[in-house]
Amino acid sequence: MSRTCLSIILAAGEGSRMKSSVTKVLHPIGGRPLVAHVAATAAAAGAQASALVVGRDAEAVAAAVAGAGHAASVHLQSERLGTAHAVLAAREAIGAGYDDLLILYGDTPLIRPETLLAARAVLAEGAAICVIGFRPADPTGYGRLIEEGGTLKAIREEKDASAEEKAIGFCNGGVMAIDGRRALDLIGRIGNANAKGEYYLTDIVEIACADGLSVRAIEAAEKEVLGVDDRVKLARAEAVWQADRRMEAMRAGATLIAPDTVTFAYDTVLGRDVLVEPNVFFGPGVTVGEGAVIHAFSHLEGAEVGPGASIGPFARLRPGTRLADGAKVGNFCEVKNAVVGEGAKINHLSYIGDASVGARTNVGAGTITCNYDGFLKHRTEIGADAFIGSDTALVAPIRVGDGAYVGSGSTLTEDVPADALAIARARQVNKPERARSIRERGKAAKAQRRAAGE
Ligand code: UD1
Ligand code: MG
Repeated sequence: MSRTCLSIILAAGEGSRMKSSVTKVLHPIGGRPLVAHVAATAAAAGAQASALVVGRDAEAVAAAVAGAGHAASVHLQSERLGTAHAVLAAREAIGAGYDDLLILYGDTPLIRPETLLAARAVLAEGAAICVIGFRPADPTGYGRLIEEGGTLKAIREEKDASAEEKAIGFCNGGVMAIDGRRALDLIGRIGNANAKGEYYLTDIVEIACADGLSVRAIEAAEKEVLGVDDRVKLARAEAVWQADRRMEAMRAGATLIAPDTVTFAYDTVLGRDVLVEPNVFFGPGVTVGEGAVIHAFSHLEGAEVGPGASIGPFARLRPGTRLADGAKVGNFCEVKNAVVGEGAKINHLSYIGDASVGARTNVGAGTITCNYDGFLKHRTEIGADAFIGSDTALVAPIRVGDGAYVGSGSTLTEDVPADALAIARARQVNKPERARSIRERGKAAKAQRRAAGE
């Protein structure tokens, strides 16, 4: 669509039902703030910019949408005087001149770009306003859409509606597209003579109709206009969002054995033929290459998993992890800020942090990189084709060369040259018959105490 578009995201005037010190629209679903979902959807529907109307935390809200894919401006609505008044807080952005305005709510994150494009298409056909309606199971509390012969004549808020109007099941989802060249004039004429004494954006419909302009409503699914106003709705929005992501992942060629138990982030990328076992959590920033397997109960965040790699069960990949093709990180292992080479194995009970592990290297069970000295973090660099015996502690900073071999139970504090054998533990001593004499001495002492009646 060649028409220009500005999205106006209303995020002021929230209630206190979240019971939170965090502004409502900053609460996340899929690991990303609600308002950032809305801005990203607006961008996907062709908006070149978003104007955010906030009541507080302007900087934090601006930061949250900074990565949404387009420019954003933030406007303060210091008094909560209604949705029309909120839109006018963004007067300056609107005045820059756009063909289409999309009015969105920062707490309504599930609206789809396709729906917004459909509303913009109605404007392109000549309508001045297109309202996105829905048919809720229970319409109580929503504005009712009053239609006549295929056009929208008015939106009546619940508190101002007659019994007849209340019987209408088609409701205002809150999202609408408005002709950007007429918006300031139309909204500027909205008054506040209603039950709540607020400037209702919904009154724009009757004003536009009186001007002889065309106004239409289109229908969206109820879940798209689900508004988050408490933690229960937040969980419901998360559930709907996750269900959609799981379907997308499966349709794109990943196998999820128990999809309902897998949690995605907004930017999770799974390649073809990835297998995800039950109870896996993806935090933000995870990419999984073709054919990799994520075994059950693994937690990944900020990690790049190469093709054919294998994770878990019960593995944790933290930010900065990069696993090359075919690498393995097995049960009860944690990897952080570390590059693990092709075919390398960290199979059991290890912590590998601030490190690099070369290709084909085997890291034995219980190996720990001691990366933190209480003040600073230090790096461990292990070369290719090395063998780190079980229960090795690598006290960083330290380097282990290519092809080196480290004896089990070592505590390494010095670099190991390539192809060297390093053993850093006390030498074993066997004392013949000593166990037997200890045992006999112990038994005798115990018998003596019994005899003394202790
Ligand atoms: C609004 C609509 C109603 C619709 C419903 C859908 C109006 C008058 N009514 O009602 O027709 O069915 O949404 O959920 O538009 N906001 C501000 N500043 C304000 C007032 C509101 O930023 O001064 C923001 C809120 O943060 C919220 C949105 O606008 O994101 C809607 O406000 P809300 O009070 O929830 O409106 P409703 O009464 O639910
Ligand atoms: Mg509401």
